[in-house]
This record gives sequence, structure tokens and C-alpha cells, in this order.
Amino acid sequence: MLKDSFGRVHDYLRFSITSKCNFNCTYCNPSGFKNGVEHIVTNENIMSPIEINRLLKIFIEQAGIKKIRFTGGEPLLRSDLDEIFQNIPTWKKNYDMIFALSTNGSLLKSKAKFLKDSGIDYLNISIDSLKKDSFQKITGRNSLEKVISGIEESIIQGFKLVKLNFVLMYGINEDEVISIIERFRDYPVHIRFIEYMPIGKNNWNKDYFYEYKKILDLIHEKFNIQKYETEKSSTSKKFQLENSFLSISFITPMSEHFCDNCNRLRITSSGNLRLCLFSEKENGLELGKILNDFSDEEILEKIKNFLPNKWLKHPPMEELAKMNTMQMVELGG
Ligand code: 5AD
Ligand code: SF4
Repeated sequence: MLKDSFGRVHDYLRFSITSKCNFNCTYCNPSGFKNGVEHIVTNENIMSPIEINRLLKIFIEQAGIKKIRFTGGEPLLRSDLDEIFQNIPTWKKNYDMIFALSTNGSLLKSKAKFLKDSGIDYLNISIDSLKKDSFQKITGRNSLEKVISGIEESIIQGFKLVKLNFVLMYGINEDEVISIIERFRDYPVHIRFIEYMPIGKNNWNKDYFYEYKKILDLIHEKFNIQKYETEKSSTSKKFQLENSFLSISFITPMSEHFCDNCNRLRITSSGNLRLCLFSEKENGLELGKILNDFSDEEILEKIKNFLPNKWLKHPPMEELAKMNTMQMVELGG
């Protein structure tokens, strides 16, 4: 079991498998960040399927991790997903695991069935606007239709849970909160309204920030929604729409942080273990570089010894904005 110095058990690992992305979302990968506009530059340090599976094995079979989320960059850009996912069915059978994946949805229409067949349980799909022009403004791509058909295909495939991520940016998309609920009200999906966070050099500024309570008031005026209880480590406040399959939630890392119950660890595509989204760049454990030099037991020991470096909570947003944090696209959203 992985416990930090505040007694928090860490059983959720967010595993980035690439830092490349075919979108340039302003809050995550502004102007293609280091990788140029397209996903052309190869990431030389990227871990191979064998290395990824070795780490997964240590985390699942020895460290007590119960949930893995594959993320990126855009994880569906990897052409070797079948090798990366090859042990999922066995781990689900023997360790009662949950596997999830975050995607921008652009390649989902053709990959949803493969993901379901590989054993992925939960999908998170980004969709920050239903307007063609503002979708393009936010993501740098004219792919709204592709994303919508990806969402529809994933519903057809019957994942246990499909979540739609909507990053709230005041002045950019806050006027679409009602229309996105209306658009998906007959879908068995869960829409998450996420407060924009300052991470890396993502041009965050206070003016974009829109407190969830105001949106909640707006939603209350239009819809009947019922709050429901969530598990302790959950980062969100959840509501069910009356007479609908749709549920919604608010992720409020900025206005009401949820560090007290944090159970997450992150690993980058090069194998850098991160204790927090907002850990400064140099504060990672480079597991990818030492994999070949140590046994599984020794690696587990290193992970355990690193965990006490985790802080109790992240600093307030104005301070975060000045810190030397990693770019979301490198770190894994
Ligand atoms: N603020 C809030 N949410 C973010 N995401 C990425 N960057 C940010 C940010 N700066 C979320 C998006 C995306 C997921 C991978 O992470 O919702 O869907
Ligand atoms: Fe790519 Fe997702 Fe980041 Fe957008 S949020 S740039 S889709 S990784």
C-alpha cells in the first residue's frame, strides 16, 4: 500500500503514454508547446510497451493501485496500444482493477470498439464548446464533428461510464453551460465542468476564472437537479438531472481544493513519477531512466521512499501561476 506522510492512501495512478497531441488546447498545449504545431516531433524518451507494462505490474501487483487512467497528450495517437493494453483483462480478473482513458475524442470513432474490447471501463472525452468557431479557437482544430461522433460511438460501445470534460473559461465558453446540458440530456453521460487551472505556461489569468457556484445557480434556474453523495476521494460535486440519464459535476481545484483526500499519483510518458499536478518541474522521480538497473522490489522501495515528499495541499492559484510547473500536455491531464 502506498501511504504518504499525511496518511493518504494512494491507489489511483494516471499514466501518460505520450506527450504528443493533435490538438493545441489553450489551457493545456498552447501553440503546440514544445512539440511544434502538429504531433510531428517524436518524444525520444517515451517508454516502450514493455517498460509501461513493467511499471504497471509493479503499481498494480505490488503497490496496491486499484485504478489506472491512461492519458497523454492524446493517448490514441500511439500505434502500439494493443501491446500497451495486453495485460488489462488479466489484471481486471485478478486484482479487481478499473481502467480508464482520457482522450480529446478526435480519433475515437474508429478506436472506441478496440478500447472497449481491450478492457477500458471509463472514458473521459474533452469537449469545451459546441460552436464550431469557438471549438477551433480553444483547440486549434476544426474537429467538433469528429469529437461528437466519437462520443456517440463510445455510447454505442457501452462503456461503464462516459464523462465529458468541459473546462470553464469565462469570456470564452461560459455561455454554453446550458446548451451542452441540453445537447446531451438524453445521453447516458456525465458532464464535468472543470475550473481552469494555471499549469505550465498556459496563459491562465484570473479573468478566465468562473466560480462554480455561479454556474450552479444558472443551471438551477433551468433544470431540476439533485445532489448525490460521492466517495471520499472524489474531486467533484455531483448532480443528477431529473428525468434524464445525464448527470453533471463540478471539479473545483481552484475555488475549493480537494487535496485532503488526494489518492492520485501521476507518471509521465518518459516514466517520471509526479506526486501532484502542481509539483515543480524538478520534483519528480525518474523511474523510466532506472528501470533496467533495478529489480521490481527495489523500484517499489524507491516509490515508497519518494511518497513522503508529497505536500498536504497545493498553494493558491495566484501563486501556482508563478511557479515552474509542468505543462499539462507533458504531465497527463
Ligand atoms: N485546467 C483545467 N482542466 C484542464 N485539463 C487540461 N488542462 C487543464 C487546465 N489547465 C483537463 C481537460 C482535459 C483533461 C485531459 O484535462 O478537461 O479534458
Ligand atoms: Fe490535447 Fe487534451 Fe491537452 Fe487538449 S487537453 S491539448 S486534447 S491533451
